[in-house]
Amino acid sequence: MINAHKYLDKIEVYKPGKARIEGSTTEMKKLSSNENALKSSKKAIKAYKEHYQDIHRYADGSCEELRAAIASKHNIDKNKIVCGAGSDEIIALLTQAYAGVGDEIIYSKHGFLMYPISAKRVGATAIAVAEKNLKADVDAIIAAITNKTKIIFIANPNNPTGSYLDSKEITKLIQHTPKSVLIILDHAYDEFAAGARSYPDAVKIVNENENVVMTRTFSKIYGLASLRIGWSYSSNEIANIINKVRGPFNVGGPAQVAAIAALQDEVFFKKSQRHNKKWLRIFFKEARYLGKIKAYPSIANFILFDFNTENNCQIANKMFVERGFIVREMAAYHLPSCLRVTIGTSEENNEIIEILREINDRL
Ligand SMILES: Cc1ncc(COP(=O)(O)O)c(C=O)c1O
Repeated sequence: MINAHKYLDKIEVYKPGKARIEGSTTEMKKLSSNENALKSSKKAIKAYKEHYQDIHRYADGSCEELRAAIASKHNIDKNKIVCGAGSDEIIALLTQAYAGVGDEIIYSKHGFLMYPISAKRVGATAIAVAEKNLKADVDAIIAAITNKTKIIFIANPNNPTGSYLDSKEITKLIQHTPKSVLIILDHAYDEFAAGARSYPDAVKIVNENENVVMTRTFSKIYGLASLRIGWSYSSNEIANIINKVRGPFNVGGPAQVAAIAALQDEVFFKKSQRHNKKWLRIFFKEARYLGKIKAYPSIANFILFDFNTENNCQIANKMFVERGFIVREMAAYHLPSCLRVTIGTSEENNEIIEILREINDRL
């Protein structure tokens, strides 16, 4: 028997949102992975299709054109950007580069699951800090910092809770964190959150703080989840380190050309933003009348619903499945009474509201 690192035993393999129900052949509507309800930009699809003649070639390993397009959109230096196979890869690379056996990595208790998984992959200890009302607690995070802390992960807004830390809270966290600790601001849902009250400007924060990295993705508002493409913005020094640990061709050509085209499709981008904001408003208005179901405030493209008990939650989940919907179960996030529902198409959302009413009547 060949032994892998012993510390890998602690990892529970990440279970993505289901795409189908086991044993069923029924076509299900998937609202379990926070994908874009409006699918993808037609321009991105066109660019992807046109790339087919080049797939025998290695793509540009440094994503030069894509980084230039991102830099121009965000008015930042392209040399401080690194692209990855999804922001998941960037998270893994940063963890690999900055933490190891015996180190500690802090995340909030209901934070994105890839943080503890990435920590455990390198033998570091994942420190889950308690939240307040399903929101990261800055004071508790600061109190959890020790001389072993290497990384603090903050998803802003957080998946699966939808909550966020505002500018003041992020500033406080940075001020009370030693400069030797890397703070990773995961802004996977930034474009959906834009415009929320005091929502932090992560680009500005990175510009002002050498120990802060922002991660972003093309999987959410840009609708390119399957192409696996994300990026980081950091100091030159950190970008150089990520470049050392990443694979030389970590982002495929189709992903690069599609992402460049997606960045240029302002109409699709704005439409996606408007659709999401409109439906968040409708859902939260509706939630006021659902006495037995709590909807946690969200600025992302999903909502966490709490059915109060695990048993109620199972009843609710069964009702969603019977009506052809797959939503995300939350036991792995220590939220067994909750389900996370991605904002879908208008038709899907109307159906979800109907089902929520039925669940509420039934409980
Ligand atoms: C908070 C957060 N960060 C990162 C990711 C990873 O996204 P990707 O690897 O597709 O860029 C997700 C995906 O659901 C997420 O919710």
